[in-house]
Amino acid sequence: MDNPIGIFDSGVGGTSIWKAIHQLLPNEQTIYLADSKNAPYGEKTKNEILELSIKNTEFLLNGNCKLIVVACNTATTNAIDFLRTSYKVPFIGIEPAIKPAALQTKTKKVGVLATKGTLSSSLFHSTSRLYAEGIEVIEQEGQGLVELIEAGKVNSQEIKSLLQNYLQPMLKANVDCLVLGCTHYPYLIKTLRELLPDTVKIIDSGEAVARQTKAVLEKHGIRNVGSKVPQENVFYSNSDISVLKGLLGEGSHKVQYLDF
Ligand code: DGL
Repeated sequence: MDNPIGIFDSGVGGTSIWKAIHQLLPNEQTIYLADSKNAPYGEKTKNEILELSIKNTEFLLNGNCKLIVVACNTATTNAIDFLRTSYKVPFIGIEPAIKPAALQTKTKKVGVLATKGTLSSSLFHSTSRLYAEGIEVIEQEGQGLVELIEAGKVNSQEIKSLLQNYLQPMLKANVDCLVLGCTHYPYLIKTLRELLPDTVKIIDSGEAVARQTKAVLEKHGIRNVGSKVPQENVFYSNSDISVLKGLLGEGSHKVQYLDF
């Protein structure tokens, strides 16, 4: 089936997920929606996040998407149950990778950096309870990080200072795994590596989400197995498109402003 895969995020961060999906499934066509005008979702109420997730989903369904990837931890943890029961297409979500961290930690202490909306969600808490038994999870809100990344300030001193503060309690607690619980944060890995000792592993879920996307496409028999090369992948943003373009880099992307 050559219908596109739809991907949405509160902004540019979900492109970290798009990259993993595109790498694993290069002949799937994709439509990406960056709702940057409404970022950050992490500071909104559950109802607001739900309404925005519905709006994004319907936009992608109007584009005939066969599967939707909610490339946002905040939207997944607050809205995916509703989306799954309300629409027929399969949904792939992303949640902080507590399980792999719990399996890898030797100090039995893991840090989770995520938005307020994710850390306060009941889905995050039930996942933590399920997989992190006997492990201390040090939660940290990444307040201000999404806004700076949306403003194109990935390599700024402001980001570095915020991260320095946010990592302190985790390092003090002797974590050996840091879970990136927001799809914007993989763009901070370079700075995080400078600030963290080598003994701390950074765990993000991009590749796992791509593998899950492939498995679900196959399970539903909707993977594009044809030899037809997809048309260029489309990226829509309702804000300044230069940041999105910068993070995507070279490639056959059509990046377009859209007032939605
Ligand atoms: N990329 C979103 C996430 O994974 C950022 C949420 C926000 O806009 O606050 O949680």
